[in-house]
Amino acid sequence: MTYNRIEVKPLSGTCGAEIFGVDLSEDLGNETFAEVQRAFHENLVIFFRDQDINEEQHKAFGRRFGSLNVHPRYVPLNGHPEIFPIRKDPEDKKIVGASWHQDLTHLEKPPLGSILYALDVPPVGGDTLFANQYLAYEALSDGMKDLLDGLVAVHDNRIQAPSIAAERNANFTSKVRDDPDEKDEPEMEHPVVRTHPDTGRKALFVCRPRTHRFKGMTEAESKPLLEYLFEHSHRPEFTCRFRWEKGSIAFWDNRCVMHKALNDYPGHKRYMNRVTVNGTRPV
Ligand SMILES: [Fe+2]
Repeated sequence: MTYNRIEVKPLSGTCGAEIFGVDLSEDLGNETFAEVQRAFHENLVIFFRDQDINEEQHKAFGRRFGSLNVHPRYVPLNGHPEIFPIRKDPEDKKIVGASWHQDLTHLEKPPLGSILYALDVPPVGGDTLFANQYLAYEALSDGMKDLLDGLVAVHDNRIQAPSIAAERNANFTSKVRDDPDEKDEPEMEHPVVRTHPDTGRKALFVCRPRTHRFKGMTEAESKPLLEYLFEHSHRPEFTCRFRWEKGSIAFWDNRCVMHKALNDYPGHKRYMNRVTVNGTRPV
């Protein structure tokens, strides 16, 4: 199907497309919004260039897709609880989101997606990688698909939680809240293969930072297959790579893509704001 209101330029053969002809500082008319939504479903992650938006406009775009999440862990932007500032200053050694993951999979209702807006970027580096989890599932053998279709994964934030105190004291500009909502680290069960509520397609839904075992199995029993899936899920042929500029926006579908931020710009800063749209319970 063609587009009449917007131009859609794919970034790779697998996922990701740049969208042109849209100014997100203005209300999108219903026809334009419908085309942006279709491009989002067809390409899994969409990108906009040269946008000049304030915090309210950023949130307003997110609200077209659903209610907004308040991040359970990080200090929000002053006066904007729904905006998660992702900051790296020149002296910082660590960044947020450096390993392959979906956002907040330990929540009962993990996000629909995240909208990341670039305020300041390094001269080179700091790209973000995305991986298509429909393809990751479809590339598996029929026998493996049958096995995974019956499995439930247990997610929690355990690996990250012990590092909260260390992070709070580290040179790490995105600050952890004094009272993170996730300190109780509840376990959350989600199907290993989820069906996208809008497209009806099946996607792999596990990630190394938060998935520790299958329901009904020990961690030791689960580990070999989980490790296989973690590595399989971001094979290069499933991915695209986005190079940021000031004013760029990425909006990824957290239900069918994984992402990874590259920490390859020592001595430079990178400032982003994220708005996260709430999702539904995976089925
Ligand atoms: Fe992330």
